[in-house]
Amino acid sequence: MSTATTSPGFHLVGRLLDPASRADPYPTYARFRDLGPVWIEEMSALVVPGYRDCETLLRDPRLSAERHHYFDAARERDPFPPDAPASVRQPWFLSMDPPDHTRLRRLVSGAFTARTVARMEPYVTRLVDDLLDRACERDTFDVVSGLAYSLPVTVICHLLGVPEEDERLFRDWSAQLTRQLDGFSFPGDEDLWAGGVVELHRYVNELVAERRRSPRRDDLISELLAARDGGDVLSHDELVSTIVLLLVAGHETTVNLIANAVLALLRHPAHLAALRADPGTAAAVVEEILRYDPPVQLTARIAREDLTVGAAQAPAGALVILLLAAAHRDPAANPDPDRFDPRRDQVRHLGFSAGPHFCLGAPLARLEGRVALAAFARRVREPRLVADPPPYREHINLRGVGELLVEHGARG
Ligand code: HEM
Repeated sequence: MSTATTSPGFHLVGRLLDPASRADPYPTYARFRDLGPVWIEEMSALVVPGYRDCETLLRDPRLSAERHHYFDAARERDPFPPDAPASVRQPWFLSMDPPDHTRLRRLVSGAFTARTVARMEPYVTRLVDDLLDRACERDTFDVVSGLAYSLPVTVICHLLGVPEEDERLFRDWSAQLTRQLDGFSFPGDEDLWAGGVVELHRYVNELVAERRRSPRRDDLISELLAARDGGDVLSHDELVSTIVLLLVAGHETTVNLIANAVLALLRHPAHLAALRADPGTAAAVVEEILRYDPPVQLTARIAREDLTVGAAQAPAGALVILLLAAAHRDPAANPDPDRFDPRRDQVRHLGFSAGPHFCLGAPLARLEGRVALAAFARRVREPRLVADPPPYREHINLRGVGELLVEHGARG
């Protein structure tokens, strides 16, 4: 008989991975907070659940974002076929450290400043209205496919200059690739996400070649090409990998922001009514959902040197997992943290991370979330959840519902 026992931290990781936890992982996060920072020998990883520790470590230069080296080393075989485009091996800047991270991020940051994004509000409002026109024609509709998914995918394609008719094409590839971004493996996963990566890279390589032949004046791909040709500061593979990052990061997260927020509002009808009465409160709903039920639940870094966090130690080279969703419910950061309350005086969250990798698309995500939620409250009358809890996708990190069916009364 085996006498092997697992450590308390490893046991909790098992609970988090269990699909039964997907609808409500928060009791498990609370147990992690009880443990404090913990070294999990079975995973060679340090898991950090407290707010102050997570925030400090995200800004700590002793931690590296170059996670791909860690995961590549653990892999038994090369996941990509020999004819895959070279760009598949180019890490995106999300997984780079300065100075390369700084150089690449700077090239695209102009397109995502609060001021540039504010100019997109009329366009985003029109899109949301069109989507809700179509969705509300039916007495029951799916908030995920009808609103939450379609909005960010259309906006990011518009910004980059991806032809509308191609949007559908890369939805599947992106969904496959997200399993890699999620950071947790599922059976048969490697072939699936590697397939998505290869197809998406082939597509973007072709798109770049096409823009090079006939540049436009009004899209980000043409701007990036001009930056590359002008100063030679961006290699071709870096260009492709940056576009892939924007395509994927730009929608696989915002979909969960909108769907998680609609779900919370439907479970708290008084807050939905307050939003309907005052659409100006939508920004506060967005911040509260980024805290209460964040689209990105955790992130990871690599320790560059031996590290001590609280009573836990990790050797150089170890994986450091920062449980952002657990940190948001740390009572030391937010009083009464398990309560969904958009009227809080102060919301402290790391939903967009912190430090050098702070989400580049935060102004855009906030705009899309704010416009979509205000319009949902205004237009969808007497909404009711068809299933509670709704079915969840299997992702642990980019956790979100797969479908959110809502019945409604009168048409808005
Ligand atoms: C990075 C969250 C929407 C583009 C990040 C990170 C988080 C995050 C947590 C940092 C991860 C880390 O530190 O390891 C979110 C959430 C979103 C959202 C919750 C929606 C609600 C967007 C959008 C875009 C975008 C709309 C736009 C295209 C990026 C990029 C990075 C990033 C490019 C990498 C930044 C860097 O490494 O310097 N995001 N994101 N995100 N996000 Fe977002």
